[in-house]
Amino acid sequence: DKAGYKHFMAKEIAEQPTVLQGALAHYINADATGITLPEPGLDFTQVERMTMVACGTAFYACLVAKYWFEQIAGIPVEVDVASEFRYREPPVTPGTVALFVSQSGETADTLAALRYMEGKADKIVSVVNVPESSIARESDLPLPILAGTEIGVASTKAFTCQLTTMAILALQAAHVRGRIDDQELADKLSNLRALPGVLNLALGIEGKTQEVSRKLAETRDILFLGRGAMYPLALEGALKLKEISYIHAEAYASGELKHGPIALVDKHVPVIVMAPRDALFDKTVSNMQEVMARGGKVLLVTDREGAKTAGDGVWDTILMPEIDPFLAPILYAVPAQLLAYHTAVAKGTDVDQPRNLAKSVTVE
Ligand code: F6R
Repeated sequence: DKAGYKHFMAKEIAEQPTVLQGALAHYINADATGITLPEPGLDFTQVERMTMVACGTAFYACLVAKYWFEQIAGIPVEVDVASEFRYREPPVTPGTVALFVSQSGETADTLAALRYMEGKADKIVSVVNVPESSIARESDLPLPILAGTEIGVASTKAFTCQLTTMAILALQAAHVRGRIDDQELADKLSNLRALPGVLNLALGIEGKTQEVSRKLAETRDILFLGRGAMYPLALEGALKLKEISYIHAEAYASGELKHGPIALVDKHVPVIVMAPRDALFDKTVSNMQEVMARGGKVLLVTDREGAKTAGDGVWDTILMPEIDPFLAPILYAVPAQLLAYHTAVAKGTDVDQPRNLAKSVTVE
């Protein structure tokens, strides 16, 4: 049931504030001062490193989580795509926690990677949407993301719920390792609890994205740029766009632009820059100026402060609500999704059933 929406994808994008609220209520205590994980839990004081493995959008969620676990919890994290991971035969040292992320919980490569880690990792954690799935059943600590059934082939609400679950886990790790105190934990948890409201506000960019997407629909190639934890969001934006609009899109870490891809830039190639006003913003602005100096059309996705600092010369701007930089990757999933969605609608493609793709990839 599309509940009045034109596509399941549109419904699932719009549902995000509601499902996220449920996921937050599941993990965060009612008084918002602590986190409850399902038994047997995980003793983060004993964790030396984490290995995260997934495919596609779930892999990008892991790339964001790497920033979180390394920055706030001080745990080194390795991330790999499942189809590569086990063939490297990576050595596993004591103190390793393996974490697998999968919406369906049935992705063949991810399941095979999990089985590779059985008996090698201290603990196998999974972040899954389908609680009775193989990946959930075969892990020591399955963490449900509570996104509800996702029907659109392009993953949307599962991504934001995967991120939210891993943000909570990273906060738990940071707290028990003494990297943040009770007050900082409570502050971050209250920011998280405010997130559904901010996501709701962010959905207000729909009209603007629709207008921009009509122009994007006429292009052949699009570049996405992001820095820090926004780099994986650039990757996610490019993947969504490719999947459903069939426009060629690529994402780069902003700083990598001048090491090659800038050669692609001309007036026909829109460059979408995902950049909230954070500590890395000024560096991103100089990368943007390099693009504009070569006639590139910059679509800047930022907040009010960012738009002010960036100044003139951008092709267009999508204005996002202000947010704690820690949570920005969750919020910026919304423009990544809406730009892809409206570009696909403008092109008239089959949004919910894109060509050549299946919802669950159970072959290697
Ligand atoms: C992208 C998408 C895919 C999946 C990938 C992993 O929109 O849906 O990239 O994220 O196939 O699937 P799961 O999460 O079921 O393991």
